[in-house]
Amino acid sequence: MKALVLAGGKGTRLRPLTHTSAKQLVPVANKPVLYYGLEAIRDAGITDVGIVVGDTGHEIRRAVGDGSKFGIDVTYIPQEAPLGLAHCVLIAEEFLAGEPFVMYLGDNFLVGGITDLVDAFRGAGHDAQILLTRVAEPQFYGVAELGPGGEILGLEEKPERPRSDLAIVGVYIFSPAIHEAVRAITPSARGELEITDAVKWLIDDGARVHSHLVSGYWKDTGRLQDMLECNRIVLEQIEPDVKGTVDGLSEITGRVVVERGAVVEGSILRGPIVIGADTKIISSYVGPFTSIGSGCRMEKTEIEYSIVLDDSSVHGVSRIARSLIGRNVEVSSAESMPNTHEFMVGDHSKIRVCS
Ligand code: TTP
Repeated sequence: MKALVLAGGKGTRLRPLTHTSAKQLVPVANKPVLYYGLEAIRDAGITDVGIVVGDTGHEIRRAVGDGSKFGIDVTYIPQEAPLGLAHCVLIAEEFLAGEPFVMYLGDNFLVGGITDLVDAFRGAGHDAQILLTRVAEPQFYGVAELGPGGEILGLEEKPERPRSDLAIVGVYIFSPAIHEAVRAITPSARGELEITDAVKWLIDDGARVHSHLVSGYWKDTGRLQDMLECNRIVLEQIEPDVKGTVDGLSEITGRVVVERGAVVEGSILRGPIVIGADTKIISSYVGPFTSIGSGCRMEKTEIEYSIVLDDSSVHGVSRIARSLIGRNVEVSSAESMPNTHEFMVGDHSKIRVCS
C-alpha cells in the first residue's frame, strides 16, 4: 500500500500566513501539522509516500526532504494549480502504480493514527473507505448522508443546507478503482475536480464504498479556531520537560516544555504550554494552551490560548488570547500619549482590539 499526501492548495482561510508559507507547515505544539500525518502513515507501516505540492512546494521539500527523517521514502508530485482533491489522484496515477493507497490531506489532524483503519481496509476488500465524524458546522465540510443500514446515500461538498452533521474526514483509502472515477468526473461549479464526486461515481458504478464513523479527535486545520483547538489537544498530552533556563523568580505550573536555550525570567508559566528553543520570556505571563516558537521574545506581556511562530516579539501587551502570530512579527505597546493603535498589517489580516 502507498500513501498520497496533499500539500498544495490555496490556503485562503489562513491568510495572510499562507501568502508567504505553506499552511501544512503551521506548527501544532511547535511541530508542523504535516509531520503528524507523515508519522501516522509511517506508523501504519506505509513507507512509499507521494506528496502533492503547489506554489509552496520548495518549502515543503525543505521541511520534509527525502522523508528519511520520518522513516519514509518521499516522491514529490507537482500540481500546476489547485484543481481539486480528485485532480491530485489524477496526476499521481503513475506514482500509485495500481496499488491501493491512503489519501491524507496534509493540513488534517487525526488523533489516534490510521493503523487500525489501514489494517481494516487491507482485510475487507472494499474499493474505497471514507471516514466520517460529527461536526457542529457541516456546511464547511464535505458531508455524507447515510441510509438506515449505514450505506452512503449522498455526498456533498460544502453544502449550503447540509443533510446531516457527518463530515468527511480528510483521510481516505482507495483501491485502484478510483482512477477510472477521477477520469470520468468533470469540474464542479468552483472549478475543482471534487473527490466527493469521484466517490459518488464509484457508488453509482456499484463499487464497494465503506464508511466508518471515527470517534477520535479530527480537525481540518484550515481555519484559525481549528488550529488553536488542535494546539490545545496536543498540548494536553505533552510531557513536562524544562531544558532551558528558568530563574528563581519565575513560577511554573502544569505541563510546561521549555526547549533548549530558552530563558525565562520573572515570569509565570501556566501549562500546558511549549516555549521554543532560544526564546526569551521576560516579566510575562504565558497561560494555558499556548505554543511559542523558537527565537521569540515576550516581554511584559500576557498571552494565553495562542500560537506564536518563530522569531516574533511581543512587548508590553496584555492580554493576548485566541491569536495566531506569524513569523518575524513585532507587536508592542505605544509608550507615549496619545493612546493610539498603530498598525502595519499585511493583506487579509484580522485584528481585534478592545478599546
Ligand atoms: P483544502 O483545505 O480543501 O483547500 P485549500 O488548501 O485550497 O484551502 P482553502 O479552502 O483555505 O483555500 O485542501 C485540503 C488539503 O489538500 C490541503 O492540504 C491542500 C491540499 N490540496 C492540494 O494539494 N491540491 C488541491 O488542488 C487542493 C484543492 C487541495
